[in-house]
Amino acid sequence: MRRRRFLETLGAAALLPGIEQVLGPLARADAPASPFARFTPIEPSDADELRLPSGFRYDVVLKWGDPFTASGQPFGFNNDFIGVFAGEQAGEAVLVVNHEYISTAYGGDAALYEDTFRMLRGRAPTVDDYKADVGFSVLRVRRDGGGVWRAVLRDPLNRRVDARTPCLVDGPAARLLGAGGPVEGTFANCGGQVTPWGTALSCEENYQDCVPDLVDGEGRCVRGGLFNLPGADYGWVVEIDPFDPGSAPVKHTALGRFRHENVGLRCVPGQPLTAYMGDDRTGGHVWKYVSHEPYVPGDRAHARSLLSAGRLFVARFHADGRGEWRPLDLSTRLDPNLDPKDPKPFMPRWARRLGDCYASQAAVLIDAYQAANAIGGSACGRPEDVEVHPIDGSVFIAFTAASARPGPWDNPYGEVWRLSERRGDVRAREFTWARFAVGGPYGPGGAGRVFAQPDNMLFDRRGDLWLTTDISSHLINAREDYQVFRNAGLFHVPVTGPERGQPRQFASLPCEAEPTGPNWAPGEEALFLSVQHPGERHGVRSAATVGPRGSNWPHGTPGAPPQPAVVVIRPT
Ligand code: FEO
Ligand code: CA
Ligand code: CA
Repeated sequence: MRRRRFLETLGAAALLPGIEQVLGPLARADAPASPFARFTPIEPSDADELRLPSGFRYDVVLKWGDPFTASGQPFGFNNDFIGVFAGEQAGEAVLVVNHEYISTAYGGDAALYEDTFRMLRGRAPTVDDYKADVGFSVLRVRRDGGGVWRAVLRDPLNRRVDARTPCLVDGPAARLLGAGGPVEGTFANCGGQVTPWGTALSCEENYQDCVPDLVDGEGRCVRGGLFNLPGADYGWVVEIDPFDPGSAPVKHTALGRFRHENVGLRCVPGQPLTAYMGDDRTGGHVWKYVSHEPYVPGDRAHARSLLSAGRLFVARFHADGRGEWRPLDLSTRLDPNLDPKDPKPFMPRWARRLGDCYASQAAVLIDAYQAANAIGGSACGRPEDVEVHPIDGSVFIAFTAASARPGPWDNPYGEVWRLSERRGDVRAREFTWARFAVGGPYGPGGAGRVFAQPDNMLFDRRGDLWLTTDISSHLINAREDYQVFRNAGLFHVPVTGPERGQPRQFASLPCEAEPTGPNWAPGEEALFLSVQHPGERHGVRSAATVGPRGSNWPHGTPGAPPQPAVVVIRPT
């Protein structure tokens, strides 16, 4: 049980006081500063390297294709979220790592996956190879005598879950999926969350690339797409127990079906559990799930049931800094978004409520994106990560890119907002919001302080924000106004003091790569980070002189295949 206690006190989701100031100053924990907070910021870089400040180094933990399970299964492609669970022994941990998608020749990008697969395995990949390289991995890691966290190969806990692994389904829509039984696999796993009860949540995001998306009023969705699977079985939040390798992942339909970027939990003892979520698409929504039952620390079986029964709400942002949560209930009054770019369900002329458009609550949850547009949920500028601040319980939202959306989302470089529930109450139906950090090339303090397209977020033990950027592959080092940003990066953003809200660059990623899933090793002595899709735009770099086009990371040798990998960063 030591592991559980550690999670309850130090890591995981936010365990918070019930009262907070509405958009008051952000609190800073009375804790020593993280060793990671003391660094001299680096300049933006277009080098094909993972660049860090002086005094820090990184090591590769595991890269795509490395065998690591007892049966020799390889690590998947495009690693993303990293859930970190303290092990029974000091210096041990178990990671849950998402493998989001396969990088194909989409939108002018190189056929990165196919080309590097051929180089590494000597044949062309099949659809079954695609299915085997997505999902998520469970991996034990151990710190060696030199302080480096290394993969423990062939450990009994090591496991691959992919697009073919049977998954269970619970919640109101379970009876409409998988013919009432298990469904086939999970994929498009982007962000996630470690729960206080010792499991990981993995979020299915861009499922529509592989299966059909459209749903009718009965909640039905056809089989098809690249993966030839039933579309309604994907687009959910999936839970896994990394310490029970025989357990099946569970898809929680109560949290709705949409392009789930991640989930940020707020667990206040004695109050309902809340889960905040983003739907990453232009015009996607910000969501809140509120469990029917209260959260009781230490009651693991009860905690595991909290994601099975609750109420789903969508955010309606008003331009004046106020907002409201609208329930996805059959009885909710229709208030459709007028923009034709916001797809809505079929609404008969006589329809007044959601229940006039859908046959059941299950159908509403399966078609949550369109249902939200029917009741006036704000169509936002691509909400990516949504995280709960560990000290004051406010909610941070990374809007990664807001072009093509009028109103508050008209900043094409993206923004981070902060949302506070009315009176700090997790059950509140009203909130306030404000901008916390604004992307753009013209930030105060010069070119070293710019950022664009914020994505994943993480807080350190004092409550400061760590922020990754994900610059679109057709923009990175390409369009003139984006050249100042160079490669994607990891930034430290103080929440108090004179530099409040001002990003300080900590890492610069290899070419055409995206930093994803940052998470602390126990004690914040090290930082795990996913380096996703190096070389996604131009593929394998043929010569050192052709930069910044293509990549050879982590090998550093012209002609070598770039490979996504999990790294661990530490002070030297
Ligand atoms: Fe998978 Fe929205 O990033
Ligand atoms: Ca993301
Ligand atoms: Ca992204």
